[in-house]
Amino acid sequence: MKRRSARELFEAVATWVDRRSPQTLFARALIIIVVPMLLLQALSAWWFYSQRGDNVTNRLALLVVRDLRALIALHDQFPDADHRAWIVDHARTDLFTSVRFRPGRVPPFRSPEHFDIVAREVQGALDADLRKPYYLDNSIGGDQLFVEIQLTPDTVMEAYIPYLRLTFGSSFAYVLAQVGLALVLFGLAIWFMRRELVPIEHLGVAAEALGKGREVPDFAFSGGTREVRNTAIAFRTMGIRLRRSIQQRTEMLAGVSHDLRTPLTRMKLSLAMLPDSPEAKELGDDVGDMERMIEGYLAFARGEGDEETAPSDLSDILEDVAAGARRDNAEVAVTWSGDMNVELRPIAIKRCITNLVSNALRHGKRAAIHATRGRTSVEITVDDNGPGIPEERYEDVFRPFVRLDESRNIDTGGSGLGLTIARDIARSHGGDVTLAKSPLGGLRVVVRLPV
Ligand SMILES: Nc1ncnc2c1ncn2[C@@H]1O[C@H](COP(=O)(O)OP(=O)(O)OP(=O)(O)O)[C@@H](O)[C@H]1O
Ligand SMILES: [Mg+2]
Repeated sequence: MKRRSARELFEAVATWVDRRSPQTLFARALIIIVVPMLLLQALSAWWFYSQRGDNVTNRLALLVVRDLRALIALHDQFPDADHRAWIVDHARTDLFTSVRFRPGRVPPFRSPEHFDIVAREVQGALDADLRKPYYLDNSIGGDQLFVEIQLTPDTVMEAYIPYLRLTFGSSFAYVLAQVGLALVLFGLAIWFMRRELVPIEHLGVAAEALGKGREVPDFAFSGGTREVRNTAIAFRTMGIRLRRSIQQRTEMLAGVSHDLRTPLTRMKLSLAMLPDSPEAKELGDDVGDMERMIEGYLAFARGEGDEETAPSDLSDILEDVAAGARRDNAEVAVTWSGDMNVELRPIAIKRCITNLVSNALRHGKRAAIHATRGRTSVEITVDDNGPGIPEERYEDVFRPFVRLDESRNIDTGGSGLGLTIARDIARSHGGDVTLAKSPLGGLRVVVRLPV
């Protein structure tokens, strides 16, 4: 077997515990608080009973034996019957011990196996402090300990000592108090914990909304700890900056594209004035290309604008796209399964799917759209029966202005922005667009949107 370092072992144990313990922060935090608390209580109770408890019992036993010694001394001094009665009387009322004197001898005593701690302590005290023959019995019942002591060769003192004098109260009350207190503290801990966790939960919701390109809810992070509050503030600022910078980028590019249209128009006019020549024709094609690119980009920038996410019916959007394509006599099938109510930017998503369907119909004769609702996302696939794309070009075609067909044939190519825009839209929803082989023979484009 391979030897493992202590560090690896520690890591393994930590991973094991991690996988088997509850996954929520709340539950874990509670465990972190409660387990040490219970351990501490158990340990202190054990320590109290085993150490202090023995100690106290020992002293109580000693005191009882001292009382017996005092009674014996009195009896030695005043052995007449009147004084005996007086001693017995006072033992009962003052020492809660019923005492009797009788002639005879104590039976021989061997300490039995099942002596309890109290009897053992009394036995020890008798051995240490009295040095007279004695007999001890803790099985007479009635919560009493029975002691016989040989006073003189023919006199025996019998004493019934209540256990009350030898123990220090019921442990039941102590345990009850401990448990009760623990429950109260536990309740308080749960309550405070919940309060602390709300801002963290809100933070999670806000992060998710930002990731999916949705409006970030404006939680009041006034509650929680300073760390959470700072994180929340930093997070919100980041969200605002992110939006602003995206907006700025889009606006700037839209501005540039828009401004380029005027010189392009002028160039087109100048070209029209030129006499017909192959060079002029080439230049005209190039200008045409540039115009289409700019139109495409402007359309994209306009669409991205300020559209907000809204609960939408995805099947409606898909049917819309298909209906648009069918107007050009194309064959497009639309199917879906599961709940199609999704929170998204409908115009943007419609543009995304339209781009994909127009690609499919440009390269194939038939297109099929299918949407499936999963647990965490919807998946829209657009299939076609065209030639498809070689696998090693899958990533390339997403780059702006990349077209595999390098000919300038307007029938087979556009500006090369279609897939770029489609992916951009999906990613702004927190999803993505990927490519695969289609069962129809051509390309399959998969749009995944988180829900
Ligand atoms: N369904 C498809 N089948 C085969 N090739 C495809 C398919 N979709 C896209 N392509 C290839 O990927 C390239 C990029 O596609 P993209 O949609 O980004 O641009 P485009 O269709 O050329 O132009 P635009 O969509 O902007 O009009 C296309 O030029 C084409 O070569
Ligand atoms: Mg396209």
